[in-house]
Amino acid sequence: MTNKISKYKKTDKSDVEYFKGIVGDNYVITGGDELEPYTHDETEDFVFTPEIVLRPGSTGQISEIMKYSNDNNIAVTPRGGGTGLSGGALCVTGGVCLATNRMNRIMEIDTDNLTATVQPGVIVEELHNAVEEKELMYPPDPASRGSCTIGGNLAECAGGPRALKYGVTRDYVLGLTAVLPDGRIIRTGGKLLKNSTGYNLTQLLIGSEGTLAVITEIIVKLIPLPGCHRTLLVPFPSVEAAARGLNAIFLKKIIPCAAEFMEQSAIQAAEEMLGRSFPYSDSAAMLLIEIDGNHRDHLDLECEIICEAVLEMGALDVLLAESSARQKELWDMRRSIGEAVKNISAYKEEDTVVPRAQLPELMNALKVISKTHGFTTICYGHAGDGNIHANIIRGDMDEHTWREQLPDTIAEVHRAVVGLGGMISGEHGIGYTQKKYMPIAIGETEIELMRAIKEVFDPKGILNPDKILP
Ligand code: LAC
Ligand code: ZN
Repeated sequence: MTNKISKYKKTDKSDVEYFKGIVGDNYVITGGDELEPYTHDETEDFVFTPEIVLRPGSTGQISEIMKYSNDNNIAVTPRGGGTGLSGGALCVTGGVCLATNRMNRIMEIDTDNLTATVQPGVIVEELHNAVEEKELMYPPDPASRGSCTIGGNLAECAGGPRALKYGVTRDYVLGLTAVLPDGRIIRTGGKLLKNSTGYNLTQLLIGSEGTLAVITEIIVKLIPLPGCHRTLLVPFPSVEAAARGLNAIFLKKIIPCAAEFMEQSAIQAAEEMLGRSFPYSDSAAMLLIEIDGNHRDHLDLECEIICEAVLEMGALDVLLAESSARQKELWDMRRSIGEAVKNISAYKEEDTVVPRAQLPELMNALKVISKTHGFTTICYGHAGDGNIHANIIRGDMDEHTWREQLPDTIAEVHRAVVGLGGMISGEHGIGYTQKKYMPIAIGETEIELMRAIKEVFDPKGILNPDKILP
C-alpha cells in the first residue's frame, strides 16, 4: 500500500488558474469570508480550511477537475449541504473542496414511472415539496432536510424518522451518474425497480461517504403521497415501558411511519432552547408516533388501537395533536434536539444502532458507562429503528479530563453496542470522527476488503482522504 498522505500536492497559482478555466472565475474561492462556510460541517467544533473551493456546474466539469487532481495528486473532498455529523465533508488534508451546491436542479419528475432525476445539490426538502405537489413522496427525511442535499444524503445513506415504515436513502436510489477519481464517468442502474445485472455499483456508492466517486446525477424512486396522518405524543415512566409500548403497536399490525424516542433530558434541552414547555416533559421517556394512510376513519381507528396498546404497556397518557399546527410544533421540538444539545456544553454524539428490542439494554449500558466516566448523556432518536443518538455531555468537567476520558468512554459505548448486536453508526456515517473505532465493529478481513475496494476506485487515494478506514 502506498503512503498516500505525503503525496498530496499543495495547490498553487497555476492550479487555481487551471480550475478557473474549468468552472469559471466566479466559481473558485481561495480565501476571504466566502471560504468560511466550507471550513466546517455540523460535526462538533472541527475546522479544516480547504486550499480551494470549486463550485462546478456539470458532470463534465467535475470529470475535468478529477482528472487534473488525480494527475497532480491533489486531494479532493466532495461537499453537499455541510450538515454532516461525522466530518465526512471536512477537508482534513486541505486540498480542494468540491462543492455541489450549484448543481441543484430537479431535472425530471416522471409521474408515469414514479421517479425523479436530480442533481446532487438539490436540498432534500425542496425535493419533498416538488414531488408532494404531484401527490408523490420521497420518504427519507433527515432532521436537516431544510439544508442538507440529496447528494450528501446518498453519501451517508441518511435515514430520518420515516425510515421506520419507508426505509432509508439506499432504498430509494435506482440509478446514478458518478465521476471516478481519475475523471471517468460511470452510469449505474436506471429507472428500474428490478435489476440483477452484475454487481450493484449503485448500492456500493451509497453510504461510501464520497470516498469512491463523486455522484453527479441521481434517479430516485417515488411513492404515492399518503393523504392523511395522525401524530401522537406518548409519555412513559421508563425506557422499558416505551420499548414495550412500541412493540405492542407492531403486534397490533400497525407500522407507524415514525416512532421517535426522547428521554427526559432531551425534551428538556429542546424546551430550554425553544423557550416553551411540553406536556409530561418530566416523564422518563416519550415516544412521538406518527401514522399515515389514505382514509381518515381508518387512521382514527388505528389511533384508538395504538392508544389501548400503549396504555396497557404502562404509558402515562396519549396526546393526539389536534391540528396541523400542533403536529408541526411537536415535530419542530423533536427536530430541534440535535441543535439544543449543542447549546448545553461541549458534547460528543454517538449514532448508535442496535436491534430494536435491545433498546432498553442499550440505554442502561449508556447510563452505566457515562456514570463510570463522570459524564451525563442526552439520548434521543429513532426508537423504531433501534437508532439512538447518544450525546455524551461535557458539562462542567475540565477540558483536560474531558479529552482524557472521552476516547475510552466512546470505545466502551461502541463495545457495548456491538455486544448487543449493533453497529457504531446508523445514519450519520463514519467519516472522520469515527474511523478509529471501526475495528470495534468491523472485522479485520472486512476492513481489508473495504480497503481493497477503495484502492480499485481510487488507487492514488486522492478522493476524500482520511475518511472511514482506520
Ligand atoms: C436527528 C439527527 C441528529 O435525528 O439525526 O435529529
Ligand atoms: Zn437521526
